[in-house]
This record gives sequence, structure tokens and C-alpha cells, in this order.
Amino acid sequence: MNVRAKGPETFAFARIHVPDVAASVQYYERNVGLESTGKDDDRTYLRAGTPHHCIELVEDPSLEKAKTVALGFTVDSTQTLDGMRQRVEKDGLTTLPTDKQLQALTAESFAVEDPNGMRFEFFTGFHEFAEPPFSLYCPLDMLHPLTITDKYEECFHVYTEVFGFQVSDYITDVAVFLRGEDRYHHSLVIVKADHFEVMHLAFLVPNFDVMMRMRSRAMYDKVPIIVDIVRHSGSGSISFYEYLPQHGPRIELADGHRRFDEEEHENVRPRRLAGGARNVFDLWRAADDDFREGELVE
Ligand SMILES: [Fe+2]
Repeated sequence: MNVRAKGPETFAFARIHVPDVAASVQYYERNVGLESTGKDDDRTYLRAGTPHHCIELVEDPSLEKAKTVALGFTVDSTQTLDGMRQRVEKDGLTTLPTDKQLQALTAESFAVEDPNGMRFEFFTGFHEFAEPPFSLYCPLDMLHPLTITDKYEECFHVYTEVFGFQVSDYITDVAVFLRGEDRYHHSLVIVKADHFEVMHLAFLVPNFDVMMRMRSRAMYDKVPIIVDIVRHSGSGSISFYEYLPQHGPRIELADGHRRFDEEEHENVRPRRLAGGARNVFDLWRAADDDFREGELVE
């Protein structure tokens, strides 16, 4: 029997450089629902659920706009991590050590730069809390980053054949949804574009009621809602997107997200979804040409 080489498990965190950490902490607490878990040297941590953190903030007052500098993924075992490290080296990429802050929160780890120069960090034994935050507004989990890139083919190769993500769905030949071993429909998305950017970070909220309360809070606080409620075709999520560029990428707050069962995870054949606003982005759209300003890469 052919045993599939396993890949990363769960999207764990984004490390983001921001101009004003105190202002960003306030934003992530109030308008994303996260809980602060403290500071370590220059890093400030916020969490959702029980993992140690999902957002790491580092202050850089010279910035006007936040910059995502690293994406962290958990790995289920030493064996899987060793397999990933060997594939990275065999592919000609360089494995890099992680820094002391991450080493203190994990068992084993390594980092590698993807074809965009984005730093990926993979690790086992990520510290957890015994209980999730008590706030009703706190997301249950962080789901995925969506990246756009001018190195689509190179990234696709590295993410699938080297890192070990599996393909859940394609959208024609312009985007691909990739999943990790936690079996969420996607833990990483690549969209073909003319430059590289981490466009959004998605969070799974507890239910539709909480999502609508967060939407009202965004409107009350004048946090721009750049895409209002949509129903995604790939994951089935019902989401809205808010954006304040000084704090990080766009934030997707999603109610529901498809999770494959174990049999599907090993055997499902990726769909090749046709284009059009309804099919690729929002099943509730009135028409296939119903894209609205700024939506094509959300
Ligand atoms: Fe998303």
C-alpha cells in the first residue's frame, strides 16, 4: 500500500509588523474577538481557541501599513516534520532555524522561504491553554491565509509536492484551495496575480448570530466592511470581510467551514470550478457577472 506523505496540520499564526501595537491589540480584541495572551520580547500575542496564539504583532513605527512577515503551521509529529524537512532540502530550498521565541513555544521546528520570499514556519508541540477564552465573541479557530502571487506555478509546486498540502478545489486555472491534515476545506489559498500579497486571514466564528454581532460592531466602530455577507462555494462559509490596513490583512469572519471526513480527506478528487461571481465567490449572487469593486481577489 502506498502511504501518502503527510503535510502541515493546521494554520496556526500570522506574524504581522504593525505601526502601533497598542492600537492593533485593541482592534484584534474588539473587532476580531481575539484575546491577548501577553508579550515576549518584541512579540505581542493574541489567541482564539486553545492554541497559544494565532496573531503575533511586532511594532515597527516606520510602517504606514501592516506587513505580514511569516505564516506558522502546526505539524502532527516528528516523523511528518522530518519528512517535510527532507522534501524541502531535496527540492533545493534552504531550511532555516526558527527564532528563540517560537522555539520556546514549540517542540521542534524549522522555517523556509517560499518562492515569494514569504517565511513559512512549521512546528510540533505548539503550546496550548487548557480552556478557550471565555468571550462569546472569540473565534473558534483561525482558518487560512489567502495569498495572491505572480509565482503561482512555483508556489503550487512547493505547497503541494514539497510542503504536502492537498488540493481541495481549483477555480479554473487562477486559484487553488489547499488543505492540511486538520481536513478543513482550505488552510491556504493561492490566487494568480501580478504581485505577491497576503490578502486576508480568515477566522471561524461560533455561529451566525456572533457573525452578525461582529458585523454590527464593525459598522458602529467605522471599521470598513469591504465585502459584505457572501456564501462561498468551496467551503460553504457565510462570511464578511473588514479591513484596516494599519492592523494587518483583510479579516474574514466566517460562519461554518466545510471539513472533510477521513475517507474524503484521503480520496476526494479536487473539483475544477468554473469561473463567475456566483460559482467561485458567492452562491447568493444575482448573476455570474455580479463582481463588485475590489472583490476579485477576496
Ligand atoms: Fe477566505
